[in-house]
Amino acid sequence: MKLLVTGGAGFIGSNFIYYMQKTHPDYEIVNLDLLTYAGNPDSLKEAEQSPNYRFVHGDIADSALVTDLFEKERFDTVVNFAAESHVDRAVLNPSVFVRTNVLGTQVLLDAAKTYGVKRYHQVSTDEVYGDLPLDRPDLFFTETSPLHTSSPYSAAKAGADLLVLAYHRTFGLPVTISRCSNNYGPYQFPEKLIPLMILRALKDEPLPVYGTGENIRDWLYVEDHCIAIDMILQKGTVGEIYNIGGHNEKTNLHVVKTILETLNKPEALISFVTDRPGHDRRYAIDPAKISAELGWMPTVAFENGIRKTIRWYVEHPDWWQRILTGEYSRYIETMYGKRLS
Ligand code: NAD
Ligand code: DAU
Repeated sequence: MKLLVTGGAGFIGSNFIYYMQKTHPDYEIVNLDLLTYAGNPDSLKEAEQSPNYRFVHGDIADSALVTDLFEKERFDTVVNFAAESHVDRAVLNPSVFVRTNVLGTQVLLDAAKTYGVKRYHQVSTDEVYGDLPLDRPDLFFTETSPLHTSSPYSAAKAGADLLVLAYHRTFGLPVTISRCSNNYGPYQFPEKLIPLMILRALKDEPLPVYGTGENIRDWLYVEDHCIAIDMILQKGTVGEIYNIGGHNEKTNLHVVKTILETLNKPEALISFVTDRPGHDRRYAIDPAKISAELGWMPTVAFENGIRKTIRWYVEHPDWWQRILTGEYSRYIETMYGKRLS
């Protein structure tokens, strides 16, 4: 089995490569990644020990490079994680989101069609469904919920999903799509809520909570997402969409307070700042389909997962300290400078 993982130097992609190496040591894995600010080769040091793993530096939107790679490697399966993934950055610069998330996906789909891959899996997001009201806890996203995006990020991800389905219907490409809720765990770039708050709390810096902190996210430990994707590859039905989420809704304020409590830091570090433009109120996945059809269930409870994650960041300063300079510090200044002053 020869597997192409794109975006494997990012948060979920690197966790997926480790999971697949552990679960299917005989698979040959090629990781195609552009190494944007979010891609970190340090995350893959142990993966590189395997003779069945190879890294290729490149852009999924570079048609010549992608065609050449597919011609040489003749992949059986493609799992596309590569994306611009941060909603806040999509507010600053939407165009790169369209280029990577939409055009990049189309380039991969074309190559998958030309070289007859047996499965193309698109890693999508629950954000394509838009948001749910805070006062309707009875509502959940199902696979048939309408696409109703809020940000340039989610709009570009929804565009990619539609292309994936179009390549299935028009060309018969054997595709699957997964739409997962918010992930957390090791190797997450520290601009997303959980690692940002852990690192700022460790340094006794203010924790910028958008608006009132009442927005709700449905958190899933990253390995549970990886398990679900593997199950879809093994047992999923071609042409189908699978929602992934563990009924684990928390307000942002609850998450931030849990981090402070675990690190024994005062709540006075919380600073309520100007809200994110277009901020989605609540995400909540109904995972009934993947549970009933594939037998997937989350294995890590939030209380354990968040403790494991905090411990990982505390024990791996070598991984994050290298990030906290240069581009990262400029981003933090652009995003939070005025809000926190
Ligand atoms: P990430 O930002 O941590 O990683 C993205 C990776 O893609 C990086 O390694 C980056 O270098 C690479 N990349 C970016 N542009 C590229 C390009 N043009 N060509 C090749 N590589 C490129 O993202 P993540 O949080 O790991 O998310 C991975 C995927 O999962 C994304 O498609 C995202 O939409 C989806 N997703 C994320 C979450 C979440 O909570 N993080 C939840 C559901 C779905
Ligand atoms: O739902 C899946 C999505 O989850 C993925 O598709 C995205 O790639 C991923 O980034 C994530 O999107 P969110 O926008 O939900 O994640 P983020 O970590 O940026 O923010 C989580 C919540 O925390 C959100 O309500 C905004 C809030 N927040 C975030 C930051 C960075 C704050 O209050 N303060 C902050 O500084």
